[in-house]
Amino acid sequence: ALRRFTELPPLRAEVAAWRAAGESVVLVPTMGALHAGHLALVARAREIGRRAVASIFVNPTQFGPNEDFSRYPRDTEADLRLLAEAGCDAAWTPSVETMYPPGFSTRIEVEGLTEGLCGVFRPGHFSGVATVVTKLLNQVRPDVALFGEKDFQQLQVIRRAVRDLDLPVEIRGVPTLREPDGLALSSRNRYLGAEERARAPRLHAVLAEIAAAARGGAETEPLVARGRAALEAAGFSPVQYLAVCDAESLAPLARVDRPARVLAAAYLGRTRLIDNVPV
Ligand code: PAJ
Repeated sequence: ALRRFTELPPLRAEVAAWRAAGESVVLVPTMGALHAGHLALVARAREIGRRAVASIFVNPTQFGPNEDFSRYPRDTEADLRLLAEAGCDAAWTPSVETMYPPGFSTRIEVEGLTEGLCGVFRPGHFSGVATVVTKLLNQVRPDVALFGEKDFQQLQVIRRAVRDLDLPVEIRGVPTLREPDGLALSSRNRYLGAEERARAPRLHAVLAEIAAAARGGAETEPLVARGRAALEAAGFSPVQYLAVCDAESLAPLARVDRPARVLAAAYLGRTRLIDNVPV
């Protein structure tokens, strides 16, 4: 049965008891408003380890002043039901005060990787992510932590921080779960109006077209220019970035001669969508 923890000492005691019994622990960090993409991570966690822990914490420090922190969807009761049905063992649901008590003053800053792509448009975002994920890893102390490829730059930033800080955990990525029309599942999809929802799958379609052409060895610059025009014609505005990048460093590539990723962020109305595909 799912056990919910809102304080750190009992969570630590439970996980310590599992570890003492030789049981492996897998963590799935989330901000709640759970959908099938999150639940795919929990299912993966149960395949990999004996115990699955999901955290639900809408982390204020990764939202900018003009972003959607206050209106970010929150439905903890529904999330707990979904986690229980998914066979999750524990839900870690700290309050903001528990996570960031008065006087909190430490931040994790990952250089380089966070400077391009989303980092340009969301200053401070990845520092907020790296800091909260480092805390979650230290709080739960899992053997493995799972992150979606949906947030590909986030995944690479977390891999980097874990390597750089020698955190004793294995980070694994999980492929993006999509709607039948290609739209990546996201908690923010519920912001889309009917007309926007109908246009939204173009984002994945354009990324897939660019990936297919880049795979053939074409120069990326004209592909990206055409892709950007196609997104704008489909009503995405602004297209914040569209780029073909080295899959590890996320540095832009003029031609694909190594593992690569096509990544984009664009607004449909007030909703910011991100997506990426492998080349
Ligand atoms: P959140 O957006 O709730 O996502 C939680 C995890 O689910 C992330 O690893 C994300 O990449 C993954 N995910 C989201 N949509 C997915 C999809 N369609 N397919 C597969 N995986 C998907 O990402 C965060 O929360 C936060 O930044 C967090 C890491 C919890 C730190 O606050």
